Amino acid sequence: MCGIVGYVGAQQAAPLLLEGLTRLEHRGYDSAGLALLGGTGIKVAKRAGRVRDLTEGLPKRFAGKAGIGHTRWATHGPANDVNAHPHADAKGRVAVVHNGIIDNAGALRQRLADEGVDLVSDTDTEVLAHLVAASEADTLEGKVGAALAQIEGTYGLAVLHADFPDRLVVARNGSPLLIGVGEREMYVASDLAAIVRHTTTVAHLDDGEIATVTATGFTTYGGDLRPVSRIAETVDVDPASYDAGEHDSFMHKEMVEQPAAAERVLRGRLDDRFGTAHLGGLNMDARETRAIRRVKILGCGSAYYVGQMGASLVEELARIPADAEAASEFRYRDPVIEPDTLYVAVSQSGETIDTLLAVQEIRRKGGRVIGLVNVVGSAIARECDGGIYLHAGPEVAVASTKALTNMFLGFTLLALQLGRVRDLSIADGKRLIAGLERLPAQIQEVLDREDEIAEVAERLAAADSLFFVGRVRGYPVAREGAQKFKEISYRHAEAYQTSELKHGPLALVSEEVPTVAIVPDDELTERNVGALHEIAARRGPLVVVTHEGVDLGGVECVRIDVPRNERELDPILLVVPLQLLSYHAALRLGHDIDKPRNLAKSVTVE
Ligand code: AGP
Repeated sequence: MCGIVGYVGAQQAAPLLLEGLTRLEHRGYDSAGLALLGGTGIKVAKRAGRVRDLTEGLPKRFAGKAGIGHTRWATHGPANDVNAHPHADAKGRVAVVHNGIIDNAGALRQRLADEGVDLVSDTDTEVLAHLVAASEADTLEGKVGAALAQIEGTYGLAVLHADFPDRLVVARNGSPLLIGVGEREMYVASDLAAIVRHTTTVAHLDDGEIATVTATGFTTYGGDLRPVSRIAETVDVDPASYDAGEHDSFMHKEMVEQPAAAERVLRGRLDDRFGTAHLGGLNMDARETRAIRRVKILGCGSAYYVGQMGASLVEELARIPADAEAASEFRYRDPVIEPDTLYVAVSQSGETIDTLLAVQEIRRKGGRVIGLVNVVGSAIARECDGGIYLHAGPEVAVASTKALTNMFLGFTLLALQLGRVRDLSIADGKRLIAGLERLPAQIQEVLDREDEIAEVAERLAAADSLFFVGRVRGYPVAREGAQKFKEISYRHAEAYQTSELKHGPLALVSEEVPTVAIVPDDELTERNVGALHEIAARRGPLVVVTHEGVDLGGVECVRIDVPRNERELDPILLVVPLQLLSYHAALRLGHDIDKPRNLAKSVTVE
């Protein structure tokens, strides 16, 4: 959702900003715009639609060596040219781009209107431009600070002012903002993806901070405008990982990267000698780890479903009661926070506002939270008491694949460590480690069956509505399968516990409603096969994701076999074919795989 990019230096800013905005497209947006500061003051170009539309419509002479750009996801007012960012003050001497939401925008708009200010857009952001323009502070950071002192809400923002042509001012509160250091030029962005081609030396702002950025450096200030020291660091990232390369989409590239990503999250964390995991980032010693009486996992969407898989792992391996809950609901039920509960926030982006607010709620009430997060230095990672970085590499596609796999592996490592300070035997620890070591190659085996799975997907793409069913370990797999299918194929896909079918949903099973059933080789196989017969008896087409050699009792179905591993690790091998099914169904339907309608990569507003 919403993206920011900014530049100040010796080059023309517009092409750099447009390139940056293109690299932010995956975040989801409905309009885009630029503001440049040149010899004649500030010029703004913005419009509803794609970055391509903005580029084609730019005026001929649109020059300037400092500028800010934005992709907007509509919150206050519809997606149209006027509501697109940047927003300017009445005299056109200030331009602002903003991510986040200003909660008291209504009251501020009213006050400005009463003072005679003509507000031209429906947005909350526009008030910022007027407040900056009205400030009598001597410096641009002073003016921005004065404006921010009047607002309540969240922001990552960048400001241009015609009276300060050599600089941008940026600020952050709850919405990420980083500064990229180049050779006598500087960048700002809400996401490294926007600037990674130009620099990987970056400084992240903390909440409440403001920074002034010129071509030769930056100064960071706290909320009281006293300078605070912030050093730029070079991040270890390959800029090529932000390109789809030979793949038709980022989703395809990211699925294919799963074996390598899985190896990365495990690397250096397995201790075969003691049959355990080493997770130094948890910041807990053995005594503290033993004192945990309950584990509560919080995430949204796919991260929530993988959290359910994680809860099963913790219960099975560590015998600690564990459950997962949608982070988006958590704090609204005024949860009881227990001192001996370990709270685990799981998030690819580390920016999901619902998960972040859940973490803040827990910490406010004195709970201990660890993060399973992919993006290093992200808001959730920084807010937690410790955690496990997922090392999946940048994930660009809205539909999460490799990050999800690494979340599952992160949970396995956590469960292993928790288990080994309790009753999990060294032999079982070693058994799981051996299973984890086999996993990347087995994920590859499933990926190698892509052509076969693509054929199955073609049949599913023809249906308007589908069921995904599974039991116990297979249920979160079914939920994740349905989620992926919905996200990119736009088909109605509903997940159920297989055991619940006959309590209602079976009424919908017919020739037109296929079911994708998850039937691992486990203690429930026989019962699952019974349910398959019930579906087949009602002429429901069946796709069964199962293990090699499982006897499905002669039921008519298309089967997709996955390799066997240790039972606890089944979910991830069962999930991978479901990713391929969704991808190929969406491809068949001609959808934009990486930018599904109505969705954003990171959901940074409530
Ligand atoms: C996954 O395919 C989805 N796009 C979505 O459910 C996602 O998992 C969710 O929004 C949470 O995102 P996060 O992992 O960045 O917190």
